[in-house]
Amino acid sequence: MRKKIVAGNWKMNNNNVETITLIEALKNTSYSGEAQLMVAPAFTHLSEAVSALKDHHISVLSQNMNAAESGAYTGEISAQMLKSIGVTSVILGHSERRAYYNESDAALAAKVKTALKHEMQIVFCFGEELNERKENKHFDVVKSQLSNALFDLPASDWSNIILAYEPVWAIGTGETASPEQAQEMHAFIRNIIKEQYDAKLSESISILYGGSVKPQNADAIFSKPDVDGGLIGGAALKAADFMAIANAF
Ligand code: PGA
Repeated sequence: MRKKIVAGNWKMNNNNVETITLIEALKNTSYSGEAQLMVAPAFTHLSEAVSALKDHHISVLSQNMNAAESGAYTGEISAQMLKSIGVTSVILGHSERRAYYNESDAALAAKVKTALKHEMQIVFCFGEELNERKENKHFDVVKSQLSNALFDLPASDWSNIILAYEPVWAIGTGETASPEQAQEMHAFIRNIIKEQYDAKLSESISILYGGSVKPQNADAIFSKPDVDGGLIGGAALKAADFMAIANAF
């Protein structure tokens, strides 16, 4: 059985007090569902989030990291730094990183390798832009994003990889891919992994959907057979909404 995952990407939101308040609200909401829950606060609050969630089923994700081990990279954070405060999972390839910080497939491939070297779990994001979907290039775009960053990895590395398909046109826009569009793309992704590796591996990979997931639409999206959960932005900033989404499984 594939792992079901609901992860909250808090982006550049919440000061320290707000972060801890949100974590406490999440902790105070009981959850008996089957999904693994994760939250990604800002770098400045990761350490405190790890302490607050110690011995709790919600785990802590970083929103980014640098590919280098250490050195003269002002403003950057390394895998080793994250591991040293107990953060063992990282989001890589988010469309905002690709768009605003010019993270190319090659740069992401390097980050992926570093994260794997440090035995970190990766939530790897990718997805097409609106014009690419309109021009019917979305399958090609997704295939090249995945193959450029991930398809030279040995099969054994994939046990640390979670995929998150996030069509850029659906992120923060209120416009969601329909459950059918999500399923169509997720099935395509699973199939190209099968072609590149094998059926056993492709069936074992969790593929999350991200892009304007809300309590109102989570159920329909998560009910699709190849959708194994969600990466949630805006709706993850309210504990009740995030837990309602988690409960959609
Ligand atoms: P959104 O963001 O849920 O606010 O659309 C999703 C994401 O960026 O991961």
